[in-house]
Amino acid sequence: MRAAPAAPLLQLLLLLGPRLEAAGVAEPPLPAVVLAILARNAEHSLPHYLGALERLDYPRARMALWCATDHNVDNTTEMLQEWLAAVGDDYAAVVWRPEGEPRSYPDEEGPKHWTKERHQFLMELKQEALTFARDWGADYILFADTDNILTNNQTLRLLIEQGLPVVAPMLDSQTYYSNFWCGITPQGYYRRTADYFPTKNRQRRGCFRVPMVHSTFLVSLRAEGTEQLCFYPPHPNYTWPFDDIIVFAYACQAAGVSAHVCNEHRYGYMNVPVKSHQGLEDERVNFIHLILEALVHGPPMWASAHVSRPPKRPSKMGFDEVFVISLAHRPNRRERMLSSLWEMEISGRLVDAVDGRTLNSSVMRSLGVDLLPGYQDPYSGRTLTKGEVGCFLSHYSIWEEVVARGLAQVVVFEDDVRFESNFKMRLERLMKEVEAEKLPWDLIYLGRKQVNPEEEAAVEGLPHLVVAGYSYWTLAYVLSLAGARKLLASQPLRRMLPVDEFLPIMFDQHPKGLPQPP
Ligand SMILES: *[C@@H]1O[C@H](CO)[C@@H](O)[C@H](O)[C@H]1NC(C)=O
Ligand SMILES: *[C@@H]1O[C@H](CO)[C@@H](O)[C@H](O)[C@H]1NC(C)=O
Ligand SMILES: *[C@@H]1O[C@H](CO)[C@@H](O)[C@H](O)[C@H]1NC(C)=O
Ligand SMILES: *[C@@H]1O[C@H](CO)[C@@H](O)[C@H](O)[C@H]1NC(C)=O
Repeated sequence: MRAAPAAPLLQLLLLLGPRLEAAGVAEPPLPAVVLAILARNAEHSLPHYLGALERLDYPRARMALWCATDHNVDNTTEMLQEWLAAVGDDYAAVVWRPEGEPRSYPDEEGPKHWTKERHQFLMELKQEALTFARDWGADYILFADTDNILTNNQTLRLLIEQGLPVVAPMLDSQTYYSNFWCGITPQGYYRRTADYFPTKNRQRRGCFRVPMVHSTFLVSLRAEGTEQLCFYPPHPNYTWPFDDIIVFAYACQAAGVSAHVCNEHRYGYMNVPVKSHQGLEDERVNFIHLILEALVHGPPMWASAHVSRPPKRPSKMGFDEVFVISLAHRPNRRERMLSSLWEMEISGRLVDAVDGRTLNSSVMRSLGVDLLPGYQDPYSGRTLTKGEVGCFLSHYSIWEEVVARGLAQVVVFEDDVRFESNFKMRLERLMKEVEAEKLPWDLIYLGRKQVNPEEEAAVEGLPHLVVAGYSYWTLAYVLSLAGARKLLASQPLRRMLPVDEFLPIMFDQHPKGLPQPP
């Protein structure tokens, strides 16, 4: 049994219509917009989601918040309450309709399981938001899922400028998934088309008519035909899958209303559902990866200052030290790396990298550095750059510290590492397995280079299928005390190579074999 959506526990409704600007001001007011927020078990993403909404460059007096939450097992309700208490008064109107109980649907197998009842409930909620927007006299309603982060503060203005009846800002994800379909079958299922990837990858730029937009989209309530759009009940002739996004796509088609996706700008990111049975914990890890992606491609995501987040508890993951080699004069990279570690709750120690620009031959001689005679980069044919020498010396200083302090196991990262989703958990699991197997080891590479991302499983438009995360590294490894001793014993400064070629040589994995010292 569930309560009917028409019976909220608490409803604060200001049916005053969009507030008008002060009389006598010549500027016509901006269109009035309702933001529809439907949150369920969204604690992991809400701080960033709400932070992005707060930062939208649009007058709050021209916006109303329609905010619903239900069936939560986490603190979503409390977070939203906290946020509305802090910012609600700035908006023209606020509708708040939380439902405390029940926490799940009767036949639901987990947080990612979509039962018919759950779909229906969501459609009813979206319908309620739409009806509110019409009754209130809004010009637009923006639907935005809580795991879509609109990092571009111009999103609302840019979409309104398009003057389209239904328009979605194309959202980026770490996979092939986005918030539109380019094709739909006569039965209402996803159809792959030649346009999808060029659009998703922005080789084709602009606003394109598509049969389906979802997750985040703006509906004009003034455009012709949009008065017929609905989520629930579905159109009387509806035979397509019982799913809110497909019902809405059908409604557009039946009403002759076009839907568009725009990708001229970067608007933000979407978290991609992955197939898993772990539920909320997985969503959190997945979301962290999205934040890491944003840190690489910017603009960054900012959490709202108006919600309390669970405290971060960074750890060294059982290692004696987590070293992060970083150049002091590359503050952006350093900042990004520290933010990444913070998000993952990894406690790292910065090591100032040796700046290759300060090296000259007399300095190198005093450090005992000799370049491997005749060394040539296999690709460019050149010898070592000062940057590569500086990089090697940075790693070398860490190996020395490991030996001097007798550190049993450490991790070393360069600051341009990109983390794959679930990195921390995978590393912890790997180390447990290594220990259980009593494998002798000196050094373990972490991650892999991104080789053929095109060959990784591509699933768009199907929310419940896995898309493998991709990743690559420059240099990240786990080192044991024994390994550090061996690296130092080889006296590598006397025949220096780029460190990413030196390490494979030490493992006898280098195509050219072990070079002889002079
Ligand atoms: C919007 O974002 C840009 C870039 O992140 C920033 O420079 C600008 O100040 C922001 N504008 C507003 C009105 O917040
Ligand atoms: C909800 O937040 C409170 C404090 O704000 C915290 O004590 C509690 O553990 C949180 N519950 C969950 C399920 O995260
Ligand atoms: C439903 O389909 C029937 C037969 O195809 C058609 O006559 C009717 O007009 C349709 N109803 C609506 C509301 O479009
Ligand atoms: C090399 O660099 C050091 C320290 O930066 C400086 O004192 C020295 O004069 C330089 N030597 C040459 C030959 O440029």
